[in-house]
Amino acid sequence: MEQQWILHLKNISYNYPDGTLALDNLHVKIPKGQRIVFLGPNGSGKSTTFLHMNGVLKPQKGEVYYEGQKLSHKESKDLWRKVGIIFQDADTQLFSTSVYQEISFGPKNLGLSNEEVKKKVVEAMEATDVSKLQHKPVHFLSGGEKKRVSIADILAMDTEIILLDEPTISLDPKHATELMEILEELHKKGKTLIISTHDVNFAYSWGDYFYIMKEGKVLLEGSYQEVFKQQTLLKEANLEVPWILEIYYDLLEKGKIKAPYPPRNKQELLKYL
Ligand SMILES: Nc1ncnc2c1ncn2[C@@H]1O[C@H](COP(=O)(O)OP(=O)(O)OP(=O)(O)O)[C@@H](O)[C@H]1O
Ligand SMILES: [Mg+2]
Repeated sequence: MEQQWILHLKNISYNYPDGTLALDNLHVKIPKGQRIVFLGPNGSGKSTTFLHMNGVLKPQKGEVYYEGQKLSHKESKDLWRKVGIIFQDADTQLFSTSVYQEISFGPKNLGLSNEEVKKKVVEAMEATDVSKLQHKPVHFLSGGEKKRVSIADILAMDTEIILLDEPTISLDPKHATELMEILEELHKKGKTLIISTHDVNFAYSWGDYFYIMKEGKVLLEGSYQEVFKQQTLLKEANLEVPWILEIYYDLLEKGKIKAPYPPRNKQELLKYL
């Protein structure tokens, strides 16, 4: 079957008003229903790419396609209905007075009935463990609580694509694990999930397809087998080799294991031993 691209950024370049060239002829295709990871050093353009994928920024050069349809600037304004974004900095995203109002804002804007809005908000609050905070003003929340509310915002909108820009930053281990469970559920429902992260170990075990960025361009892309064997290029993007792979290569070299393919997680590695 031919691969379906739900989103396609074609030859996108973008200069910020101060003249910084943040994206330099960027080419990105997002396969529908998959888990996509963006990796790359600070300032390589991951967040700017995400802002183009949900229409916050309009390309100065190049085109955006959604399900094969080229979007005009006017149409790309409506991308937020299909593509939810959890911002890297929760303060950029949150603005209403109480947590409940904040989370209800998105589904209300989508035109859902009051009853549907309430149902979506309650479900999103339960999933992110913020129900107890629902009457609290957003600006009194801790960093991690704000992050969870910003995740609830997007869950309540139930968009086809969810962009998560550094989602585990400021989450404690319990809530980071809960987020992973939420992502697993969303993946099972067929949602397309796109994450930017500096956590190479998580990315390696989680992603179906990888984009490695450097200086506003794609340095490397592909499946985990294709991308993580390119150790010189990974180093060029300031990325570490995932610890599972490091141990795997070490054991392979010493002849201690005969594994047909690199293990994806701790369980697979242990099976080889
Ligand atoms: N509002 C802005 N005005 C001017 N330059 C900006 C602005 N936002 C980002 N940039 C610049 O654009 C480039 C890409 O930034 P971007 O935030 O997309 O990188 P990133 O890969 O998300 O980095 P990080 O890992 O630090 O989140 C950087 O050089 C940055 O300094
Ligand atoms: Mg960023």
